[in-house]
Amino acid sequence: MVEVMWTNCYCSEQKILLVGEGDFSFSLYLATAFGSAFNIVATSLDSYAVLLKKYRKAQSNVEELKKVGATILHEIDATQMKYDLFLRNHKFDRIVFNFPHAGFKGKEDNPALISLHQELLLGFFYNARQMLQPYGEIHVRHKTSAPFCYWNLTYLAERNSLTLFKSMPFKIEDYPGYNNKRGDGSRSDDPFPLGECSTFFFKNKYYFQLQNIDYMQTEHMELHLRYRALVHLYGR
Ligand SMILES: C[S@@+](CC[C@H](N)C(=O)[O-])C[C@H]1O[C@@H](n2cnc3c(N)ncnc32)[C@H](O)[C@@H]1O
Repeated sequence: MVEVMWTNCYCSEQKILLVGEGDFSFSLYLATAFGSAFNIVATSLDSYAVLLKKYRKAQSNVEELKKVGATILHEIDATQMKYDLFLRNHKFDRIVFNFPHAGFKGKEDNPALISLHQELLLGFFYNARQMLQPYGEIHVRHKTSAPFCYWNLTYLAERNSLTLFKSMPFKIEDYPGYNNKRGDGSRSDDPFPLGECSTFFFKNKYYFQLQNIDYMQTEHMELHLRYRALVHLYGR
């Protein structure tokens, strides 16, 4: 029997799509924890040639991932990805976008730049929802301080019929090997200060409601049975 390997909120049985990877170190962290990567599809917006210029460790990380069975795709735009020839034939249990960012194009509190980031997220959610298994989850890691909280991930997800069902503080030390990258400009390979940040967990809104109706009905039935038992014992 094949052993199921877990790391944080991911397991080797889940089909996982990673979007907007920097130097592919997050994908490699998962593959290392699982001991293989046949369940991983890791993608970057950049072409392979651009990746090699941007990130010192991109080549070795990508080669390592391929060796253990990962599917690697480049030039995948998160806002168009459902049309990709490979991706359109697959559904995923988890779709992960770590620290989405539309590029360093001025001050982060500039409303025009915030709109650009929001457009990226809206397009990502729109595509990801259609590539997700009904019970699947979309994970976005994002800073929670101002001005990043003004992006309003929950609202952007809601507009795509996705519900935020959980968020948890993100601690990079729990993800050994992962190096967060700026991913744009002359210092692409540098990390950016993470500060306060979280993992946001989203689900298909309708599936989430169905699950909750089941839960509420079970709760309701249990309460009703308890009530009838009490009536039987003590009368009305
Ligand atoms: C701040 S970097 C984070 C990189 C990486 N996810 C990490 O955690 O180190 C933002 C990333 O978003 C990616 N990105 C920006 N626009 C994108 C798009 N339309 N589709 C896919 N990725 C995009 C960039 O290529 C870059 O890799």
